[in-house]
Amino acid sequence: MDAQAWEKVDELIDKNQTKTIKDLFAEDKDRAAKFSLEAAGWFLDYSKNRIDEATMKALIKLAEKANLKEEIEKMFTGKKINATEGRAVLHTALRNLDKNDKVKVDGKDVLKDVRKVLDQMGDFSDAVRRGQWKGFAGKRIKNVVNIGIGGSDLGPVMANIALTPYTKRNMKFFFVSNVDSTHLAETLRAVKANETLFIIASKTFTTQETMSNALAAKEWFLAEAKKAGLKKADAEAAVAKHFVAVSTAAKEVAAFGIDTKNMFVFWDWVGGRYSLPSAIGLSLMLAIGRNNYKKLLKGYYKMDRHFRTARFSRNMPVILALLGILYVNGYGAESYCVLPYDQYLSRFPAYLQQMDMESNGKCVDKDGNPVTYSTGPIEWGEPGTNGQHSFYQLIHQGTHLIPCDFIGCSKTHNPIGDLHDKLMANLFAQTEALAFGKTAEECAAEGVDKKLIPFKTFEGNKPTNTLLCDQLTPETLGALVALYEHKVFVQGVIWNVYSYDQWGVQLGKVLAKGVLSDLTAKKPSGKHDASTNQLIARYRKAVGR
Ligand code: F6P
Repeated sequence: MDAQAWEKVDELIDKNQTKTIKDLFAEDKDRAAKFSLEAAGWFLDYSKNRIDEATMKALIKLAEKANLKEEIEKMFTGKKINATEGRAVLHTALRNLDKNDKVKVDGKDVLKDVRKVLDQMGDFSDAVRRGQWKGFAGKRIKNVVNIGIGGSDLGPVMANIALTPYTKRNMKFFFVSNVDSTHLAETLRAVKANETLFIIASKTFTTQETMSNALAAKEWFLAEAKKAGLKKADAEAAVAKHFVAVSTAAKEVAAFGIDTKNMFVFWDWVGGRYSLPSAIGLSLMLAIGRNNYKKLLKGYYKMDRHFRTARFSRNMPVILALLGILYVNGYGAESYCVLPYDQYLSRFPAYLQQMDMESNGKCVDKDGNPVTYSTGPIEWGEPGTNGQHSFYQLIHQGTHLIPCDFIGCSKTHNPIGDLHDKLMANLFAQTEALAFGKTAEECAAEGVDKKLIPFKTFEGNKPTNTLLCDQLTPETLGALVALYEHKVFVQGVIWNVYSYDQWGVQLGKVLAKGVLSDLTAKKPSGKHDASTNQLIARYRKAVGR
């Protein structure tokens, strides 16, 4: 992070220390309009932040000093900005709807391949949804089970829930991710083999959790097919009708026994946590259909265009990123909260956790030196009013500063009485309460018992952003995801970290292999530390080894 540019931001934080959000609103009657903007179907009100025009200017300088404009172009044009893995970062190519554009990686235009796979996905999902794709007993597919983890799970799960009103209601969608056998077992209890399609979704096709679940699902399927009267060879042939793969690894897919005709590819320039608009979205396309899926891509594309072309002072992802940096680096905020006031967005915070924390949870800069400032914060959240009755107490009156993003939709898909008015009233009221609080004088004027005043006082001055769309649709969902993707990108550029690798997940994976062999070996190696050896011994004893 550019030290000089940051110093200017810091100076302004010091200078404005005594000013609260309330003071800032009192000073400027145009504040709400001034610190609001619209893009790709979303309205952002960021006026309830500890900012004034000078702070925003200083923050924008920080972005300029980080060569953000050039970095954005590098990403969109396929430069290998994921240097530790030697890869381009081109999730934007997956939704590039500009027919005249060309995006080249190693001299090859990737857009052609992207569109070919989209057509393949579209034809396949049409066939399944129309009942033309039949299972081994001649029945149509009623259940889809996506087996994948991390980026091969969180996006499809989040979007399947988010777009429920657009899904084919006579089909059921399941997502198995955990290597905990309960996850698979409970799913298999709910489906019949002859009307179930398994999507094995794994970029690498080597992930332990996914491959173990996929093999177990295949064994279950073969046993069920035999129970239904199929001979061994016929049951094996039936796998082709019930198992498809989404991956970058054709060899591994074939080795698993899936016909590569039924493989939907994507490419190493799509990061797992950015892969929802790739073939990883196949389960979603099966649920909402190819046309709605295209609308989702259109939403992404609109936000991409906005991000690439809007000046920083009117650029939604840039503004969200800069505000995040202000609180992480200027106020020591360790986390931020995402609070969707829409039940359909219930898994959005979980989805963002991987996107943000796997991207910017880094402690060395691009030169490999330890960073001297904080980087990616902890992201967490829950759907709106549920959170209010759980952890909002701490946000309002606790000792930690937790900036929040409130997300709402003006129209509900399910109007029932005045429930939606009540939901939105809660959203708006929370941002008001957090920003403006309630003083001791106000409590006293209300006749609050003197002894209780300290407990009933709200300090306020808690920063929030409010994001509003007209309605949650495939298009607004696409734009929302792209908004956060680009926010994370901008922060990574300013913090000077590599946002598209994830070496931090490797060590545990490797150690788990050694531990597994010690759990199952005749005699454990005893090679671990005393605590781990003890845990292994206890487990072995409990399971009778
Ligand atoms: O946990 C690390 C990770 O590599 C994620 O980045 C990725 O989304 C997930 O595992 C799943 O990987 P794959 O799609 O290759 O199975």
